[in-house]
Amino acid sequence: MGRCQNYLYKDWDPNEEPPMYDSAKVKHTFIEPEKVSKLPEPEDGEVIYLAKGEFLGKGTHGIIERVSPKTVVKTPLPNPYNPSEEVDIRLYVALEADIYKMIGPHPRVPRVYGYDPETYCLTLEYLPNGDLETYIRRHGDSISSRRRYRWIRQAAEAVRLLHALGIIHSDIHPRNFLLDAHLNLKIADFAGAMLVSDYGDPPSGYPSGYFRHPEHEEYPDFVNDVFGLGSLIYFIETGRYPFEDEAVDSSEAQNRFREDNFPDTSGLVCGDIIEECWVWTTQSDLEPTDMTAICNLVDDTLLFRI
Ligand SMILES: Nc1ncnc2c1ncn2[C@@H]1O[C@H](COP(=O)(O)OP(=O)(O)OP(=O)(O)O)[C@@H](O)[C@H]1O
Ligand SMILES: [Mg+2]
Repeated sequence: MGRCQNYLYKDWDPNEEPPMYDSAKVKHTFIEPEKVSKLPEPEDGEVIYLAKGEFLGKGTHGIIERVSPKTVVKTPLPNPYNPSEEVDIRLYVALEADIYKMIGPHPRVPRVYGYDPETYCLTLEYLPNGDLETYIRRHGDSISSRRRYRWIRQAAEAVRLLHALGIIHSDIHPRNFLLDAHLNLKIADFAGAMLVSDYGDPPSGYPSGYFRHPEHEEYPDFVNDVFGLGSLIYFIETGRYPFEDEAVDSSEAQNRFREDNFPDTSGLVCGDIIEECWVWTTQSDLEPTDMTAICNLVDDTLLFRI
């Protein structure tokens, strides 16, 4: 059995190469060490993760745990079975820490309380109302229109903030927006993002088909974020992903977008804004400053409704 600072794994023959399982195939088991009398033996392809706090979420880049009443820690997703992927994921969380530093304290992003370059762990403000997707699906119709319009304005403001700093988020999705105690919206999860000043690697984030620009699939860019914002606004106003009512999956949604087939938004208050994000982005190459035009449209549309 192999052991790392905060996880156990099934060792392989030292004369052999690592098995190279990618993290999507690795089983991560979360164990609270103080609650078990004996640590279990990991199976092949299993990582036994030793908890630092209360488990809040796991994504492609990290494990999020609440470690104190006001803080969470994002730990890069461990994968000792594929050392190069494990290094990459750590570097993505390091990039996320850099991006938070670049943005600085701002009402549209979670506060950062620390980053440890040795463990690559990022300590952030705990946002007690969790992510926007879970919140909207859980509270459904009880959410007022006014609250939804406020989120739409805050989401547009958040994307404009990133673009103005040359940051492409690359995974605009309601699970990557978080809600504070007063239900104000913050954009989070920059592990898949890209700085335009870094001419090197493309972003590691990749939006789901419901949020992805049909012609910018290979290399996410500003346009892709704006397209995703259109789908996000659609989700906030209707409580559904585009085409979700027709039980269309993410790849079928992508096919429909490719054929210029978009859900009808004519009955929606934010229909024009959504159209602008979807249709305009498929017709022009946006510059970062174009988010200002979207934000102006949002303000004009929602001025007397918030
Ligand atoms: N500061 C926070 N407060 C409360 N919950 C949080 C916080 N940060 C993250 N979460 C929860 O953990 C989930 C995963 O976080 P995050 O998106 O940062 O991880 P990730 O591995 O980078 O995700 P992805 O798979 O999208 O790349 C979020 O969707 C949210 O539910
Ligand atoms: Mg995420």
